[in-house]
Amino acid sequence: MNTFGSPPSLSVTAILLCTIGLSCSLRIDDVSIPEYKVRGSSARLTCNYSLGDFTLYSLKWYKGDKQFYQYIPGNKKTKNTFVVPGVNVDVDSSSAVTVVLKDVELETSGKYKCEVITEGPLFHTKIGEGNMTVIDLPDSTPVLEGVKTSYQLGERVHVNCTSPYSKPAATLEWHVNDELVRKPTWLRRYEAQQEPDGLETAVLGLTFVTKRSHFPGGELRLKCVAKIATIYFQSQETSVIETGFFKHTQAEERRHKDHSYFFGNSAPRTTTSFFSLVLATVAVLLNTGFHVDLVQPFL
Ligand SMILES: *[C@@H]1O[C@H](CO)[C@@H](O)[C@H](O)[C@H]1NC(C)=O
Ligand SMILES: *[C@@H]1O[C@H](CO)[C@@H](O)[C@H](O)[C@H]1NC(C)=O
Ligand SMILES: *[C@@H]1O[C@H](CO)[C@@H](O)[C@H](O)[C@H]1NC(C)=O
Repeated sequence: MNTFGSPPSLSVTAILLCTIGLSCSLRIDDVSIPEYKVRGSSARLTCNYSLGDFTLYSLKWYKGDKQFYQYIPGNKKTKNTFVVPGVNVDVDSSSAVTVVLKDVELETSGKYKCEVITEGPLFHTKIGEGNMTVIDLPDSTPVLEGVKTSYQLGERVHVNCTSPYSKPAATLEWHVNDELVRKPTWLRRYEAQQEPDGLETAVLGLTFVTKRSHFPGGELRLKCVAKIATIYFQSQETSVIETGFFKHTQAEERRHKDHSYFFGNSAPRTTTSFFSLVLATVAVLLNTGFHVDLVQPFL
């Protein structure tokens, strides 16, 4: 058996076979490194390879440039681990193909690489790699702040959605009556707040002036969605009611109604219209009186 230290004696046949692609068939078929893992869980990293005509000399796993695991069938102690911060190998569950990391932490995030080396005379090496990101989920579902139980028409809504203590910070979205808010003027973006232990709190504000159309069926629904990568999706929803007009808007609304009324394309429903009706009636009465006065001398 060749040891890694002595230079392999190159066999011409092997080189020829290898060149024409027959027997140098060491291949890494599939490296499976989870893209995302929740903090505290276990991660299974698999380096699936085909040795072809060769036998395995070693399988090694690295985080960045630092080796943390090796499997060498020729060694007395087949499996060996090396200390790398954030990497906690479950030796019993690890093999010539797979390495299992238990209790992953934020520091476990990084680039992972497996290296397969076959026995001489030709030492073939293949490398497969992938990134893993460990996610610390938010402490709670998104929290809505500053929401009143009711709003007047024309009143400004000023609310925040907060997704506390996660890594990375959650991506937030506001939905008004189930429609995703895209208008930049409606959204207030804030930098994620830095928390202890490298965690972050995401905040997204929503602000707009209410209109009657925002209350279909008398109700305005506000929903905030928090997402992290493909593994976290939580939302918080609330509905508020409308309580009539806000003071100065009431005046505007009245002007609008009067305008419509005088052009005859809206039914007279407002108080103002009622007064107009009274005025009209008074005018008719005065008119009648005036007429009476006018005709009386002729009687
Ligand atoms: C390894 O790859 C082979 C063929 O490419 C496949 O049949 C097998 O299921 C894979 N094993 C694992 C553990 O991925
Ligand atoms: C891993 O992440 C680094 C940057 O963080 C990136 O440059 C690289 O392309 C990623 N590799 C893979 C296999 O996704
Ligand atoms: C929303 O959050 C920002 C940033 O934390 C804060 O300045 C603002 O006062 C908050 N507004 C409400 C309505 O809570």
